[in-house]
Amino acid sequence: MRNMTENELTGVVIERYSNTPDPRLRAVLQSLIRHMHAFVREVKLTEDEWMAGIHFLTRTGQISDDKRQEMILLSDNLGISALVNMVSAGVPEGATETTVIGPFYVPGSPEQQWGESVLRREGDEVPLVVHGRVIGPDGEAIPDAAIEIWQTDSNGMYDIQDSTQPADNLRGWYRTRPDGSFLLKTIRPTSYPIPVDGPVGELLRATERHPYRPAHVHAMVSAPGYQKLTTHLFDEEDPYLDSDVVFAVKSSLIRAFKLNESHEDAQHWQTEAPFWELENDFVLARGA
Ligand code: BEZ
Ligand code: FE
Repeated sequence: MRNMTENELTGVVIERYSNTPDPRLRAVLQSLIRHMHAFVREVKLTEDEWMAGIHFLTRTGQISDDKRQEMILLSDNLGISALVNMVSAGVPEGATETTVIGPFYVPGSPEQQWGESVLRREGDEVPLVVHGRVIGPDGEAIPDAAIEIWQTDSNGMYDIQDSTQPADNLRGWYRTRPDGSFLLKTIRPTSYPIPVDGPVGELLRATERHPYRPAHVHAMVSAPGYQKLTTHLFDEEDPYLDSDVVFAVKSSLIRAFKLNESHEDAQHWQTEAPFWELENDFVLARGA
């Protein structure tokens, strides 16, 4: 085990992990080592580059806290979150597709009543009303499902990035009625740049990539007996749909927000005309 060649070293390191009792952990670690060693060989990584990478990851961890998740942001920007979603989160035909959760989800947001708005500040924005049903694969209503939504305000910032916003602004969760129906109220989302004042911003600048995500509302839908759905509703008019900085757009999640000027409809949906309207069902897959 001395004077090893490059290839012998990889084999020896992999072998050193062969007593890992958990078979999944063993397989993941051994594969990670094999691929990381191959990467080092392929690019002939220099000592300086390796140290620069270590410093980059160290800063990525150091800037992260309970409100800022630069590690998730890095994973998102390298397309790893989108790839993990693709390989692990397949849903059966007909179910609503999933996409990345992103770094701005905060558990424990407030419960909203039927039609109540998650906009918690004064403002004269045209409201966005989203109504529909949460259903299962056979079209069965799912009562008491929880639909949690979160999004940026019109300045492109989430509440946790912006101390001028009230707590829990533009986040909250709704419960479906016995027929699976729901009525959410928010504002139309805008495209926004991901945070660029940290290591991920350095990466974007060094690679001349833009930092924008297309406008979307995040939704997480859960109900006993069904798989939890983490998804987005994207605005079909957004210019960044084909260049999302985190590669998370799926065509099936793109929606048209329609301007409705009918006072009668507004009254029905507990709002005022004009309002943006989106009719949208969430279809959950069965499972734990
Ligand atoms: C988001 O949509 O909140 C998001 C997702 C990935 C990276 C940054 C932001
Ligand atoms: Fe987002």
